[in-house]
Amino acid sequence: MQALEDRDYFTDYEILKDPYAYFEAIRAKGPVYQVPGRDYVIVTGYEETLEVLKKTEEFSAIIGLQGAAAPLPFTPDGSDITAQVEARRADSLGGDLLVNYDDRHHTFVRSLLGPLFTPSRLRANEQFISEYSDELVKDAVANGGVELIKTIATPFVTMVIADLLGVPQEDRQIFMDAIENGPPPGSLETGENDFSAETHPLVVMGGYFAGYVQDRRANPRDDILSMLSNATFPDGSTPDVMEIVRLATFLFGAGQDTSAKLLGNSMKYIVDQPGLQDRLRQDPSLIPALLEEVLRLEGSTKQTARLARKDTEIGGVKIPAGMKVLVALSAANRDPRRWEDPQALVFDRPRIKEHVAFGRGKHVCAGAPLARVEVRVILEKFLQHTSNIDLDEAAHGPRGARNLDYEPSFIIRGLSHLNLKLTPATGFVAPAKKAAVKPAPAPAAAASSGARYSTAETKIGVLLGEPALKALLDKHFPGVSDDKQIGMAKAMTLRAIQAFAPAQFTAQALDALDADLAKLDA
Ligand code: HEM
Repeated sequence: MQALEDRDYFTDYEILKDPYAYFEAIRAKGPVYQVPGRDYVIVTGYEETLEVLKKTEEFSAIIGLQGAAAPLPFTPDGSDITAQVEARRADSLGGDLLVNYDDRHHTFVRSLLGPLFTPSRLRANEQFISEYSDELVKDAVANGGVELIKTIATPFVTMVIADLLGVPQEDRQIFMDAIENGPPPGSLETGENDFSAETHPLVVMGGYFAGYVQDRRANPRDDILSMLSNATFPDGSTPDVMEIVRLATFLFGAGQDTSAKLLGNSMKYIVDQPGLQDRLRQDPSLIPALLEEVLRLEGSTKQTARLARKDTEIGGVKIPAGMKVLVALSAANRDPRRWEDPQALVFDRPRIKEHVAFGRGKHVCAGAPLARVEVRVILEKFLQHTSNIDLDEAAHGPRGARNLDYEPSFIIRGLSHLNLKLTPATGFVAPAKKAAVKPAPAPAAAASSGARYSTAETKIGVLLGEPALKALLDKHFPGVSDDKQIGMAKAMTLRAIQAFAPAQFTAQALDALDADLAKLDA
């Protein structure tokens, strides 16, 4: 039988679902392990992980998203490949996303997030978190149980980010649908990296954000989207529209599965560690300490990656420029040289917040404060509204012999589903109506009074969605309804798209379409 350390982290189904034994086998080979025949090393040591993440001059984040196994779009040449990395940045998956940026541009783009994560903004967001989680949990308790991951965690964290960004209420359901139907990051089973698919959640959301940014730049209001759309870089220059669009949509990608899975991973411990839920019910102020320990033991981001752009070393091991590094965060968090009894869940570990579940250094998770708040608050609600939480034995088997299914992702550690049985707390009052996110209005209803349709007011998604309107669109702009770029801009009006495509959407052609639309109204 093949030795564990000789199996492939990125494609081995069992390891993707449960990496811990594999990482221990790699650790036995040393904290920095050169995978035979591959162009990457695996770092499992805690100190060595900090070293890689902090040496930003030597290590580029360009492969953070695609991981260490994917081939580079160039052949590394020489002892310093910084220029090569930048020259081919556009050819790297996610090369234009914050998490993969390096140096000055990374600092500049990260600074745009500042207004979203101020204490006052997070406090306002916490209000939403508290109210929304209360609704969701009460509803679940009234039903006697719930599937936690898809029914509660995913919609919850998605709506929290939508609220943080100030996404209009009427569009939120569309975002949620797109994400719910999308695959988890790094998934083996699905086209997670198929950004060309029109239905890819980031593509759908990108369309909406392009509309928001265009609109808020033209007509700033007193809202968060206006603040984000009109934010400037530290040197006073204005970011490209698409930079803001990518940043905003990336927040959904970065903060959705990670937080949803952390809720699932935490709940699993709360339910199955004897006496733990009662202890937390009696003293909810212990929840943050539990969360930190779950982040250490079973953080939802297993790994990230870096590319050595200069000849360097990690923990004394020589690393040539061009070598990729799989930074095994979940292994660093169980390094016995740093953590006593590392495989055990222990409350009140000294300096627990030094775990690397949120990374470290310049790319340290921007959303960590939000993740901590949202998971803590919803756990508080679960404990407050129940007298007992258990796993549904029909789905997961009995305690001691649980059957738990993890996502086959090289990035995410998290349960694909977790079915809970919930016993209401004494005095629990079931909500009068079912909790639900307000659905988006049907397209036609959005323009149902007065002059119903116009190229200045009606979003292209509405025009494409109604056969009579689509026919008019095709008459004036042949082929446009099949255009993927236009499809992406669903939340924009044609007059707004005109700014990007003035040659195609001439004022004359738009006026002619308006005339036909008015006839349709009449
Ligand atoms: C339990 C939940 C979460 C975990 C475990 C987590 C983990 C991480 C990790 C490990 C990184 C660093 C990646 C690297 O160095 O290559 C990171 C970066 C990032 N995370 Fe999170 N994350 C979580 C939740 C969130 C949330 C809720 C948001 C936003 C709303 C968010 C936004 C980001 C952003 C923007 C970055 C990139 C920062 C940069 O490159 O400067 N994360 N996250």
